[in-house]
Amino acid sequence: MEELGESELGTQEYWDKRYKHEVKNFRTHGDVGEVWFGDDIVVRILRWFEKNVDPSQSILDLGCGNGMLLIDLYREGFKNLKGVDYCQGAITLAKEIAGKEEFDIAFDTLDITADCSGICDIDVVLDKGTYDAISLSLEAKENRLKYIKNVCKFMKDNGLFIITSCNWTQEELCEQFEDAFVYYKHIPTPQFKFGGKVGSVVSSVVFKKIVN
Ligand SMILES: C[S@@+](CC[C@H](N)C(=O)[O-])C[C@H]1O[C@@H](n2cnc3c(N)ncnc32)[C@H](O)[C@@H]1O
Repeated sequence: MEELGESELGTQEYWDKRYKHEVKNFRTHGDVGEVWFGDDIVVRILRWFEKNVDPSQSILDLGCGNGMLLIDLYREGFKNLKGVDYCQGAITLAKEIAGKEEFDIAFDTLDITADCSGICDIDVVLDKGTYDAISLSLEAKENRLKYIKNVCKFMKDNGLFIITSCNWTQEELCEQFEDAFVYYKHIPTPQFKFGGKVGSVVSSVVFKKIVN
């Protein structure tokens, strides 16, 4: 399988600069910043959680950015929530947005491709756009493999891993995660038709951790 190639979206410098700007924007105008992949995808994820995840389960969002997905989950009644991101600016922004509403959500800085031994026993792991960013980094293959190993270690046996990606198709994600996870379900995403072939711009796949 071919790697995607390097891009500035795969560098921490890019995200640091971006969140510095977004923190400023939030403080000045109350603007929470970008909802990656749009509101439609978020609503589909929330509806899926409503039907499939118990509100008492622990949920970890990898590369949470402004934390809006967790904030929306909190509003839906999920209360055991944590978000991590390697950008201090993202964590500052997420804490300020959640703090304004007095929502009790834990946010912390963490590089998912580094040592993550402090995290364990998570029921549900979420990723919206973060594996995509990691796939665009320098040494992407090495980083992807470290990411997959870490996610697997975070999780309880039979835990769910929900990944939403615009860079990889469902088939490609299944291939990349097959050593540690089995395909469980997918969250339907908007489809387009081109030349008679039906495809999705974004894939949202639910995996279950393989129990060894
Ligand atoms: C496309 S944004 C998505 C943000 C958020 N998940 C959302 O849906 O709004 C990618 C995020 O991944 C974070 N990120 C990239 N590489 C990371 C890594 N190795 N460890 C932790 N966070 C990372 C970036 O800082 C950024 O917040």
